Amino acid sequence: MLAQELREIYLKFFKERGHSVIASASLFPEDDPTVLFTSAGMHPLVPYLLGQPHPEGKRLTNVQKCVRTTDIDEVGDTTHLTFFEMLGNWSLGDYWKKEAITWSYEFLTSKKWLGFDPDKLSVTVFAGDKDSPRDDEAADAWRSVGIPDERIYFLSKEDNWWIAGNTGPCGPCTEMFIEVDEIARCGSDCRPGCNCGHFVEVWNDVFMSYRKLEDGSYEPLKMNSIDTGMGVERTLAMIQGVPTVFDTEFFIPLIEHVKELSSREEFTEEDNRLIRIIVDHVRSAVMIMADDRKIGPSNVEQGYIVRRLLRKAIHSADRLGIGQGFMNSLAEIVIEMFKNLYGEVERNKEFVMTSLTAEEAKFRKTLNKALRRFERIYEETGNITGEDAFLLFTSFGLPLEMTRELAEEKGIEIDMNEFTRQFEEHREISRTATQGKFKGGLAEHTEQIVKLHTATHLLQAALRKVLGDEITQNGSNITEERLRFDFTFSRKLTQEEIEEVENLVNEVISQDLEVTQEFLPYDEAIGKGALAFFKENYGETVSVYSVGEFSMELCGGPHVKHTGVLGKFRITKQKSIGAGLMRIRAIIED
Ligand code: ALA
Repeated sequence: MLAQELREIYLKFFKERGHSVIASASLFPEDDPTVLFTSAGMHPLVPYLLGQPHPEGKRLTNVQKCVRTTDIDEVGDTTHLTFFEMLGNWSLGDYWKKEAITWSYEFLTSKKWLGFDPDKLSVTVFAGDKDSPRDDEAADAWRSVGIPDERIYFLSKEDNWWIAGNTGPCGPCTEMFIEVDEIARCGSDCRPGCNCGHFVEVWNDVFMSYRKLEDGSYEPLKMNSIDTGMGVERTLAMIQGVPTVFDTEFFIPLIEHVKELSSREEFTEEDNRLIRIIVDHVRSAVMIMADDRKIGPSNVEQGYIVRRLLRKAIHSADRLGIGQGFMNSLAEIVIEMFKNLYGEVERNKEFVMTSLTAEEAKFRKTLNKALRRFERIYEETGNITGEDAFLLFTSFGLPLEMTRELAEEKGIEIDMNEFTRQFEEHREISRTATQGKFKGGLAEHTEQIVKLHTATHLLQAALRKVLGDEITQNGSNITEERLRFDFTFSRKLTQEEIEEVENLVNEVISQDLEVTQEFLPYDEAIGKGALAFFKENYGETVSVYSVGEFSMELCGGPHVKHTGVLGKFRITKQKSIGAGLMRIRAIIED
């Protein structure tokens, strides 16, 4: 079975069981300032897991593209990937553990579906603790489909509890593992969850029943939901009977290509590690850049991750004797592989290709200098300080993590506090690089963010009234402090125009208009004049938010109920961010 068939039969299985197929969301979470990337299928669904009705109903399924950077430094071994696809199915307050587990078992073991040998299937369930009881309901469901007690493992929160980030919807989970005969158990206490490779996790069913709050406590959710995730690459490896994800069709052509480009005849274990880094990192960077947000390598936020991935790939390629231009030829393969699944990949090909060429040229120009400087500092001082790392970063573009790694090879640990101090005037970079933001996490929609979200709709409507209907949204980002709105327009606004926009928004706020949500067929919503952010993938039925007669947009929400709660709206900044694109920042004040 190939990947495409796996995707298709998964969706078919759940469609037959009443699920609507929804599109993969962007890799960039909308309006969530605490996380860089969509890291699981449930991520875009958080508002619905917390109780908001979903326009496509209570049973959903999809294939979601994901990026996880938590284990970025582990990439190079045989299991870790930064980009992957996740198959998922959701019950939003509908079916519960018994159905989820019975279907998981059927899909994994039935000859009609994946047909894994039931004797090779082991599962884990939550052992219980002070926050939540032992999950006997899940264990009983496994027993009733025929899994014997010796293959049901009760594990603690560390293994069997799922939450994205620090707060939000969460609950106990049950994970499914396939045993790999070729890899022997590492010892008598080897069990699912052990890293030796004998047990490979293929699927996770999460029983969303709590919400974790800021203070670390758990409150029961108003409704119980199911969230599941099956990694496409891993499951494919198990289906195809190959030992690692790198032996699947996703990676074989990329690895072969890298080997061809390299001047080596033979490849050591270390060479293979470098090859895995190259193919993983280029694939991830291509998929991130191919997203419609068009984020290329930079020194901030997601752009910094792209830069870090690409520069590490270039450095690894250098060590294998691979010449310039290799990233573009690998990108061609990645784009070919994904273009029919994700339309944006083809759409943004040119952007990806030019960004790769530019980044490679830029980095190669300084890489050797940076490495020479690193060696010189080390020879002269016997150390690499936080300040040195900062200098290597700002003057030579050597990513902090690369400097840390090079230092580690010499047995040196870089003083991160000192590095951070140096960053005072580079606050945005420091936020990304040193405050754990790579780890991901999930913001809940705080009251302030919800208010700014509604204010963003008002801003867009006002801009169109003042500047004309050709204004379209190009992006939006909201933090606790401000909203940011990018739109197509070719010049700065005059002071009068800014005031006019502010006045219009403030007028709507003072009228305390009602904000209403309705679900409509996509065509009908557009027909009624609702604005759609063309970069999103919408389903057949869409959620539409209206503010009186003033604004109507396709949007998942959430929003305030009445505009009166917003306070005073003020534009704080505007700037041009490229040909025909403007950016506005605004705040609301009490
Ligand atoms: N959200 C769960 C996971 O990613 C299903 O494992």
